[in-house]
Amino acid sequence: ERVEPFTLAFRKPPVLNPVRSDSNTDYYEIAMQIAQVEILPGRRTQIWGYNGIFPGPTIKQRKHRQSVVRFINNLSINTSVHLHGMPSLPQYDGYAEDLISPGFYKDYVYPNSVASIMWYHDHAIGKTSFNAYMGLAGMYIVQDDEELNLPLPSGDYDIPLIIHDKTFAANGSLIFDDQAQHSVMGEVITVNGVPWPRMEVANRKYRFRVLNTSISRSYKLALSTGNDITVIGTDDGLMPRPMNTKDMRLGMAERYDLIIDFSKYSIGTQVELQNLGLPNNDNTGNTNKIMRFDVVRSEVDNSSIPSTLRNIQFLSESDAVRTREFVFDRSNRMWLINDKGWDKNRVDANPQLEEVEIWRLRNTSGLWFHPVHVHLIEGQILDRNGQPPFVYERGLKDVFYVGENETVRIIGKFKPNIGKYMYHCHNMVHEDHDMMSQFEVGQGGI
Ligand code: C2O
Ligand code: CU
Repeated sequence: ERVEPFTLAFRKPPVLNPVRSDSNTDYYEIAMQIAQVEILPGRRTQIWGYNGIFPGPTIKQRKHRQSVVRFINNLSINTSVHLHGMPSLPQYDGYAEDLISPGFYKDYVYPNSVASIMWYHDHAIGKTSFNAYMGLAGMYIVQDDEELNLPLPSGDYDIPLIIHDKTFAANGSLIFDDQAQHSVMGEVITVNGVPWPRMEVANRKYRFRVLNTSISRSYKLALSTGNDITVIGTDDGLMPRPMNTKDMRLGMAERYDLIIDFSKYSIGTQVELQNLGLPNNDNTGNTNKIMRFDVVRSEVDNSSIPSTLRNIQFLSESDAVRTREFVFDRSNRMWLINDKGWDKNRVDANPQLEEVEIWRLRNTSGLWFHPVHVHLIEGQILDRNGQPPFVYERGLKDVFYVGENETVRIIGKFKPNIGKYMYHCHNMVHEDHDMMSQFEVGQGGI
């Protein structure tokens, strides 16, 4: 092993400042560029980073203030930037064939109309897995007054955990092998770009905004102490109330807002965030470890977890005007939805604005799991194989973990925009090899 787990210091990605602001808009600039960075101690690794770092800088924004982000392409490849979780207009949604050529930039306009943990990442047609693996991913947080007024841990106790696996050659360069066209899993687990970091914490509650930017790896999170993790939010914002769990699945692109309470531990306790492993992942070496929290000091904790976090008007089955079925399967090294691959002229569903639909997501591909992402909407899981969703999934979501042999029924309202949007498996290798299609809100047929 070239890195001993829990020896490198934890760090947070920097927060990006706007280049200017006016009464309702903040303007940002991010350049996509090649950089040499130190990920393994004493080794140089070439990455493609937003502003040359991995993960990219975090954008923190207030709900209803608009952001205009100028993404400048200083790479020698075409790129497209998707802000995952934002209901952007179609022209700003990072459509896979809406590419920024090398040497050009594009200004993306984001309404920040929802408060949640989002992330921006590359979405270039057929190249998303490679581009994101090289480093093109960063967190984007929108907060509203309701959230900021809650007594949750904040400031230095509100921390992003961006989990991503990579494989390195002996000289430090990144290895990306998707020849089998099914997955790219790394042997080194990084958090905020650091392999298996060690974070010093006080004996109090911390809030962690967890995001899995891995290309193909899903995780089963748990604490080595066997204690509960408190889940306060899902992909699209706070849950109605906190939920406790001993372990949880974290699929690619999923976000969970968690509270870990270190007050029950004495100074000197080491608490590992573990990966218990999920089927059809490469569970070898140290991939069962993620990071370690070392309780090193005592502090007064004035934060608390309210029993009510926010009011969500959940949809019920009777709100739906129709049900559609989407079958996720594999054929001849290609990954297909309803037996077809990507075609920019194909439209699978045409809900009218504000219509509610139920989508049945069926995984018939055998030994594979597919975290399915539907752009634009905030959805809910109705059931999985007829059973209620896990307690930690009972909030608004845009990624739905469709595990081996699972059928997941989701419900969502198609708003706030009309136009064409993508949906796809967020195993980016599947996405690139063709498990992606689109729907169109408004206009025309059904
Ligand atoms: Cu996170 Cu269509 O992607
Ligand atoms: Cu998949």
